[in-house]
Amino acid sequence: MATEPVVYGGSARPPRGDYSRGGVVLADYTCPQNYAAYTPADHETYRLLYARQSRLLPGLACDEFIAALPSLGASSHIPRFDDINERLVKATGWQVVAVPGLIPEVPFFTLLANRKFPVTDWIRKPDEFDYIVEPDVFHDLFGHVPLLFNPVFADHMQAYGAGGLKAHSLGACEQLARLYWYTIEFGLIQQKDGLRAYGAGILSSSGELVHAIKSAEPKRIALDLLRCMRTRYNIDSYQQTYFVIDSFQQLFDMTAPDFAPLYAQLKQNTLDQPFLSKNCP
Ligand code: PHE
Ligand code: FE
Repeated sequence: MATEPVVYGGSARPPRGDYSRGGVVLADYTCPQNYAAYTPADHETYRLLYARQSRLLPGLACDEFIAALPSLGASSHIPRFDDINERLVKATGWQVVAVPGLIPEVPFFTLLANRKFPVTDWIRKPDEFDYIVEPDVFHDLFGHVPLLFNPVFADHMQAYGAGGLKAHSLGACEQLARLYWYTIEFGLIQQKDGLRAYGAGILSSSGELVHAIKSAEPKRIALDLLRCMRTRYNIDSYQQTYFVIDSFQQLFDMTAPDFAPLYAQLKQNTLDQPFLSKNCP
């Protein structure tokens, strides 16, 4: 089916997934993982990214993430999604499904609400080793999938999908997307040994993982739904504000109430937090 590339947040760069796939992209935007298309260089890129990133995790990534990472399986080549699913389905009932790149809101929320996590199947080129603006298979697998093995986080992701469908019907996707950004992508968590990252955008980035935890520059504030949904974000620089939770249970409980009154309040008061783009290329 015809599928359009999608861009979220502020960015100057166009997306570059292959959305036509000669008809192999299905109506729900999923596609078979094109495993035969990976070259030895692609597998090597994954191996190098995994090795660099996994070395950085102690003291920076949350305990749940570090504990679950080996469940991804292969670290020396791009894993087969079917292999991960054998363990993931048993652990939490989630599965990963391949997609050609970012997909529109409604199919994205629908997949999550059905405990299916869309994973981009292509990998960055070597010249994008340190930084890529779009999610690729490394970001999606390494960043997002380990925490889907955690039962509380797994339930939260499904609730987010259902909440996304509701936000769509209320015209509030932009607000809910900010919550996703500042939690699932760039969230920090206070653990017994200190501040740690649980957001996929941090965990899959060598630069931002250190920046988010160690740098004196960014603001780090306790997660507050209204403030978070008022804070615009840019997708191609390190974050200037991080929101901190105490536990995944706190995140689950805080997001469980009906958001309709929050969305109404946000619409009345349309003043977004100022957006500073000093780190933008
Ligand atoms: N409780 C939210 C609502 O009613 C849905 C939601 C759940 C949003 C989890 C984000 C995370 O809209
Ligand atoms: Fe992501």
